Amino acid sequence: MKYDYDKNALKGLSIGPFLNQVKTRNKMIEAAPDDMPQSVFNVNRLAAALHPARQFVKIASVTGHGDAKSFVLVPDREKGTEKLAYFRASQYVSVELNIDGALVNKPYTIRSGPKDALGTDSSYTLTIKLTDPAYASKYILDNWKEGDSLSISGPLGDFYYQALRDAKHVVALAGGSGITPFFSMACAIVDGIEDFDMTILYGSRSSENILLKEEIEALAAESKGRVKVVHILSHQEKEGFEHGLITAELIKKYAPEGDYSVFMCGPKAMYDFEDGETAKLGLPKRRVRKEMSGDYLGVEKDAGYPKPEEQEFRLTVDIRGEKQTVPCKAGESLLWAMERAGIAAPSHCRSGECGWCHSRLVSGKYYCPKEADGRRMADEKFGWIHPCCTFPLSDMEICVYPIVR
Ligand code: FES
Repeated sequence: MKYDYDKNALKGLSIGPFLNQVKTRNKMIEAAPDDMPQSVFNVNRLAAALHPARQFVKIASVTGHGDAKSFVLVPDREKGTEKLAYFRASQYVSVELNIDGALVNKPYTIRSGPKDALGTDSSYTLTIKLTDPAYASKYILDNWKEGDSLSISGPLGDFYYQALRDAKHVVALAGGSGITPFFSMACAIVDGIEDFDMTILYGSRSSENILLKEEIEALAAESKGRVKVVHILSHQEKEGFEHGLITAELIKKYAPEGDYSVFMCGPKAMYDFEDGETAKLGLPKRRVRKEMSGDYLGVEKDAGYPKPEEQEFRLTVDIRGEKQTVPCKAGESLLWAMERAGIAAPSHCRSGECGWCHSRLVSGKYYCPKEADGRRMADEKFGWIHPCCTFPLSDMEICVYPIVR
């Protein structure tokens, strides 16, 4: 092939470096050290800082509030955590617990605002209330004390404000300790980190057991009208408080004119009730959101649960070829059965949302509540399950893949 180009443009250029290219390169290779070149990209550094698999923390202080306590967690620098990861207001961390040999990961919302995670004094505050059934919460309230070391996950969960999806005004329905994500959001609004308005309809049994009452009201006062709190008492009539449950009428009474989103956080019984009430509001589906982390309790009451005749099954767990068989009660998740047997099964949200417990079904029949089935269609088709939301209907065998740290 004949190339037509202007040869004059190349006149005067030395071809020496070109001819010596191989020699020069070989010399550089000879002179280079034998170690593998090290390089960490900035994007990887940022990802590691924002999404650490583990964080080591110490309890800096403990404050009691009746049947709840607040724990301020700071980095445990002796164990290698220099600074806590930044988070979106209302995200959670899962806490590693060893309760009498049962290895459990439990999710708890970071109640403080994201601003507290910044700087050299970075901290998270968790407020944990005694729950029913009182298992992990009782262990924590009885045992955690100032100076204790803990291992927690990085921040997780997607129950946060998303300007592209959510309305500029959020009506937050909180039940008991369900105030914690909204407390974090209120901090973020006051600190100028989040830009939306929020009306919190906060349900409690009586005025004596309103968790963090003074603290959330102080935040509302500081917010220059962007955060409002309305207390609703289910078991007491008192002047200055609403009485009863958070009904559609009550939501309409305090919601702004025009567009708004409803966020809710509380126990399953509250969700069952609020599903009916929020349906009456006629809002588009994306305008109603629920915090889902935490165990799926009371599966026996699900309309679709095919109550098995037997009360206990055998669950065989295969971890990298090592098999062990443990008992699993009807109505109990496979995750609970593994934890009780001391198996270090991976989990974070415990509600079918995060996918962390993703395991392969080898055999057996099971029930997975529709509401907690966060699997993709392909997962279900090719036999993948989330043990945190899988309830046995026969003996079962599964393969579990714990993270190697
Ligand atoms: S622990 Fe999150 S999906 Fe099971």
